[in-house]
Amino acid sequence: MEDKRAIRKLSITTESGRYFLTDRIREEVNFRATPQSRGVRPPPVQKPAPPGSLVIQLPNQETWSIPSCNLQKAIADRQSHRRFTTEPISLDELAFLLWATQGVRSVLHEAAVLRTVPSAGCRHSLETYLAVLRVEGLESGIYRYLPLDHSIVHVRDIENLPEHLTAATHGQAFSGQSAVTFIWAAVPERTEWRYAEASYKVIALDAGHVCQNLYLACEAIGAGTCAIAAYNQTLVDALLGLDGYEEFGIYMAPVGKVGEGP
Ligand SMILES: Cc1cc2nc3c(=O)[nH]c(=O)nc-3n(C[C@H](O)[C@H](O)[C@H](O)COP(=O)(O)O)c2cc1C
Repeated sequence: MEDKRAIRKLSITTESGRYFLTDRIREEVNFRATPQSRGVRPPPVQKPAPPGSLVIQLPNQETWSIPSCNLQKAIADRQSHRRFTTEPISLDELAFLLWATQGVRSVLHEAAVLRTVPSAGCRHSLETYLAVLRVEGLESGIYRYLPLDHSIVHVRDIENLPEHLTAATHGQAFSGQSAVTFIWAAVPERTEWRYAEASYKVIALDAGHVCQNLYLACEAIGAGTCAIAAYNQTLVDALLGLDGYEEFGIYMAPVGKVGEGP
């Protein structure tokens, strides 16, 4: 029997790919028929922690010990790093990176939460997963950020996590050598609620801002990162335990203290 929840394989042509990059879709979408316009309640702004799961509160801005960093210097020095030392990152540093990429600035109402990054229509369709290898005070495993609570929830333990990360990135071994790899997953429904079929390009655009903030925040703590879009969809979704339809990986970024070389 056909799995209705599977995303069907589509062949993308140059024309359809370029069309996707334009905003022509806006001329076609009936915005009066979107779930928001029909009065449907908005999806939750954050996936809740499953009952009974281990939730770890992170240090916040008032208490963490993070050196201040000159923005011009951070922008000038930003580059992709694919070589990391074996030094761990601290929980303060992890908390800072998560705040920089998805931290909450203010809660407007149940459907709108302002964060440290922009998002089309304030829909914030991304969830942040962490493949933790060397973070002080954390066991290795998969965790997920809870922006509203500024905490992380333990998702699962994975044996041989470095090997899984390397395989999930088509053999890009630096992901398995990271201290922590950020993996962003999309929950399209959050944006579809407002924009229907006009959601997909803006979700991808949102992810770019998030990753750029990670690059810049890494500069402040002597760490580096490298965006990864070349990953194995099936392996990444399996690693995170995602169904690949309502939620699926879309972008990754291994982080570690910076070593020698480019
Ligand atoms: C959307 C995107 C996807 C990328 N995917 C990969 C990747 O899969 N593997 C990799 O090694 N670098 C990847 N990169 C990093 C680019 O190769 C890098 O940004 C580019 O070579 C310029 O180098 P710089 O970031 O040091 O300026 C990606 C960058 C972006 C923005």
